[in-house]
Amino acid sequence: MKILGIDTSCDDTCIAVLEIRNSKLEILSNIVSSQVKLHAKYGGVYPSLAKREHIKNLPLVFKKATKGVSVKNIELIGVTVGPGLEPCLWQGVNFAKDLAERLKKPLISVNHIEGHILVNFIDKFKISNLKSQIFPAICLVVSGGHTQLVLMKDIGKYKLIGETRDDAAGECFDKIARILGLGYPGGPVIAAEAAKFQVSSSKFQIKLPRPMMSQKNYDFSFSGLKTAVLYLVKQLTINNEQLTINQKREICAESQQAIIDILIFKTLKVAKNFKVKSIILGGGVAANSELRKQFGEKIKKEIPNTKYLIPDAKYCTDNGVMIAIAAYFNQKNNNWEKIEVNANLRI
Ligand code: KG4
Ligand code: ZN
Repeated sequence: MKILGIDTSCDDTCIAVLEIRNSKLEILSNIVSSQVKLHAKYGGVYPSLAKREHIKNLPLVFKKATKGVSVKNIELIGVTVGPGLEPCLWQGVNFAKDLAERLKKPLISVNHIEGHILVNFIDKFKISNLKSQIFPAICLVVSGGHTQLVLMKDIGKYKLIGETRDDAAGECFDKIARILGLGYPGGPVIAAEAAKFQVSSSKFQIKLPRPMMSQKNYDFSFSGLKTAVLYLVKQLTINNEQLTINQKREICAESQQAIIDILIFKTLKVAKNFKVKSIILGGGVAANSELRKQFGEKIKKEIPNTKYLIPDAKYCTDNGVMIAIAAYFNQKNNNWEKIEVNANLRI
């Protein structure tokens, strides 16, 4: 069975094709056309520009993704219907509708957040005999638009138990990068600068807040962290001085660590309280190598019998594979005549 997945929820135009044959899943293509350079000058995504680029890119990305694949053999099409930027979502949905109509194949509506979770099951798509080892699980979805803790009892059975009250973790990386003049997207550049920070050459030791760590709930808040960085930078440049490169790197290292500390602390708290069997990560921020490493170490130390599922870094950021796999698990949602975009879709 060949499945095509489409995602245009934000600034990337993503199409992938995967094939499930003889109990094996193979990724035939995974094309992501990034608009990063276009949006960089705005320090974030500019929706009407992103929409225009999706219109232009979709046919080109489709052609690349289906090179060497007989299109008429595609049996299932999945498309993100939300959450995301409404004008962008519609481009993917309209493209997918036309395709499904032309090929006379089922079209499955996919929740982007579920895609970020289910991409962890690429190598476990025959999940039936693994269920008792994996569920219940706690999923931490950390992207540019979302920071959510989702209790997962099975594939398709989710309960949102915590989320950010203001900025998402990825948004926090992006805003701090903008304050430091490091460009967009912030996550990868902050991670790279943090890795170069040399403790010995620093004249000051900064300490940033870890908002909501001590509160009993499972929610997050990241806007205070961004504001703390803003004030710190103002204070350090009060006499029109420029930040030194090592000062910038120290701020990157401490900001990244603050975000990591909060994410790990809250997730482990839920994992312990709900006695879950696994911790599942997803979303662009899960590509962060320090986060991946420290999460693994903490789980091993504090709850060693808990499984730790995390996608390959290339499947953490938005991609079509996650939508195709989610379509595979949601084949019953074949409702393409009624398919609608919902920018605020919840899990
Ligand atoms: O999941 P994603 O590709 O798109 C959304 O659904 O939002 O996530 C994008 C977010 C951006 O905020 C970006 O800065 C962040 O993921 N990100 C990272 C890394 N790579 C991407 N954050 C931290 N470290 C990274 N290596
Ligand atoms: Zn995403």
